[in-house]
Amino acid sequence: MAQHFEVSSNQGDEAWTPLQLIQKLQGTQGVFTTGGERIDAALLAACPDLKICANMAVGYNNFDLEAMTCAGVLATNAPEVLTETTADFGFALMMATARRLMEAEHFLRAGLWTRWRYDLFAGADIHGSTLGILGMGRIGQGIAKRGALGFGMKVIYHNRSRLDVATEIDCRASYVSKQELLKTADHLVLVLPYSPESHHAIGAPELAQMKPTATLVNIARGGIVDDCALALALRNKTIAAAGLDVFEGEPAVHPDLLRLPNVVLTPHIASATLPTRLAMANLAADNLIGFLKQGKALTPLNPEVLLKR
Ligand code: GLV
Repeated sequence: MAQHFEVSSNQGDEAWTPLQLIQKLQGTQGVFTTGGERIDAALLAACPDLKICANMAVGYNNFDLEAMTCAGVLATNAPEVLTETTADFGFALMMATARRLMEAEHFLRAGLWTRWRYDLFAGADIHGSTLGILGMGRIGQGIAKRGALGFGMKVIYHNRSRLDVATEIDCRASYVSKQELLKTADHLVLVLPYSPESHHAIGAPELAQMKPTATLVNIARGGIVDDCALALALRNKTIAAAGLDVFEGEPAVHPDLLRLPNVVLTPHIASATLPTRLAMANLAADNLIGFLKQGKALTPLNPEVLLKR
């Protein structure tokens, strides 16, 4: 981007506070955001020169899209390029959770392995079990195919809208109600976008409907799961285990989750392979360059802003 623009950036380990972000963005025309920076009406009002915010993430719940459209500011995200990498990770986290990989590794590293036992870290099977997916976009579909084709899983899903029949057949997935999904899944993976409607989509009442042997994986967004209710459910063995890549209020993690053995915790890395992270970064940069130099963007979220120019 430095070949095209005068660039200032935050290369430090500390994210800018909302006030610092406003101060840094005053007088700038574009911003490259990594997904955590809130772009809202207050920031837009304080930064009237801003024309585009390019998210290096497929999720864009950090954007107040309505306020951006109102202010004539283009929003872009980074879809497609991360789909398969993220689906790989969802599967990896589900397997690590079901097979108690981290618990077993910590046990071994701590020098506690003195004798082989038949039930040592016995977990749950993946193959032949029922995979539940809440949120059946591109990433959910990628996970469904891995489960059905690679592991012989029965795949059920729930989504705001049902997929067309051809896509259901392609994914070997059957549509069920949310209640049925909760009751039936052996392994439930969350891949839905965060919105006020999906806030705490999995809380105490939903966890209570799941099987005591079930696992829950969240690679979507913090806030979709009520982390406090989940910690309680894991402690009480309402469900067997969880794998979490995203958290309410991250990078802070609910202290109870940190203390529990039956949860695998990762720092929001589902799309983290170098080629994919580079592709996401390049897409965000191309959106900025394309828009500010030629009025075009590859992945606009509010294309009406483009039309109004
Ligand atoms: C990561 O969480 C993304 O939305 O790309």
